[in-house]
Amino acid sequence: MSPTPPLPVCLGDYERLAAARMSPMAQAYVEGGAGDEITLADNRSAFDRLRLATRVLRPMDGASTALTLLGLNLDHPILLAPVAYHKLVHPEGEIATVQGAGASRAPMVVSTQASTSLEEIAAAATSPLLFQLYVQPDRAFTLDLATRAKAAGYRALMVTVDAPASLRNREQRAGFRLPPGVSAVNLAGLPAPTLTGSAIGESPLFSGLLTGSPTWADIEALRAACDLPLILKGILAPDDARAACAAGADAIVVSNHGGRVLDTLPATIDALPRVAEAVNGAIPLILDGGVRRGTDVLKALALGASAVMIGRPYIHALCAAGAPGVAHAIHLLRAELEVAMALTGCARLADIDRTVLW
Ligand code: FNR
Ligand code: LAC
Repeated sequence: MSPTPPLPVCLGDYERLAAARMSPMAQAYVEGGAGDEITLADNRSAFDRLRLATRVLRPMDGASTALTLLGLNLDHPILLAPVAYHKLVHPEGEIATVQGAGASRAPMVVSTQASTSLEEIAAAATSPLLFQLYVQPDRAFTLDLATRAKAAGYRALMVTVDAPASLRNREQRAGFRLPPGVSAVNLAGLPAPTLTGSAIGESPLFSGLLTGSPTWADIEALRAACDLPLILKGILAPDDARAACAAGADAIVVSNHGGRVLDTLPATIDALPRVAEAVNGAIPLILDGGVRRGTDVLKALALGASAVMIGRPYIHALCAAGAPGVAHAIHLLRAELEVAMALTGCARLADIDRTVLW
């Protein structure tokens, strides 16, 4: 009889299982960050530097992780962040992810660069879906994507504003290319963005890619054209947070794109307090980047977030175990949050404030 392998008991266990299964190229794409990956590492170490204050003997009757976010009644504050190309790590791709999300009642944010059509994902969803929008140089196409998402039942648009360009050396060294059968199917028909082909002496970035990149005017146009709640993802500067409120954003994701865009940006948990101060409760904040433990969720809520998103961790679980893996990973994180709430004496998410920090 062969011994049963031990069950993953935390998100780190799924990361180790995935490392043994992913192709080297997929691994370079999923795990990599920008430049020297200083921000990527800091997203984690900044959480680990924060210490908690335990509180004892508080009543925990009726304890709950429930919340209302953007009109959605949620069981817990853990969302799946938009991640491109789930079929890179599992043949069922986003369909397996959305089944896992449904089983653990987590909202899923579907990437513009999903490897499954947004309508097929919606057809398999049993928890709320949000659509992550990358504004395309073709603005009519962009608006059509938003309209398709609304028609398919998506509950909000999350416009990612922090990634008009990036350089990820791990990917470059691996010579990353998408394998056959994996593509951004929702963008079919659009020309692929390219950094090549400009004249010598011209900046391929400034005279190429960036000429079609979005500005605040696009946010206002989207706000006017689409009546779904509008979330801006990838804000760290307090002034940008104020501008987002002024532009009519319904929520902000405090994010550095998992350390994948501009290296040496601060860790998101370090940036959060200043964003929270600037927004002053006007709209909810969602944090992502380095969330791996229930104590990280607690710390994010203590410093002003209403909810968190996880990116790489559910991709690891998808790679290791498909839909049940995704469901289990979300369950593990939620269970850790519940323990952290119990030991800091917080019966409700609303009870979590800075006093839980040492
Ligand atoms: C991403 N992220 C991302 N964000 C986005 O707005 N659209 C996208 O298509 C993608 N794609 C993507 C692919 C991969 C492989 C990763 C790892 C990340 C960023 C993602 O939404 C989120 O901000 C980070 O992943 C959060 O950090 P952690 O949880 O991975 O540490
Ligand atoms: C990434 C893009 C797709 O982070 O957002 O890979």
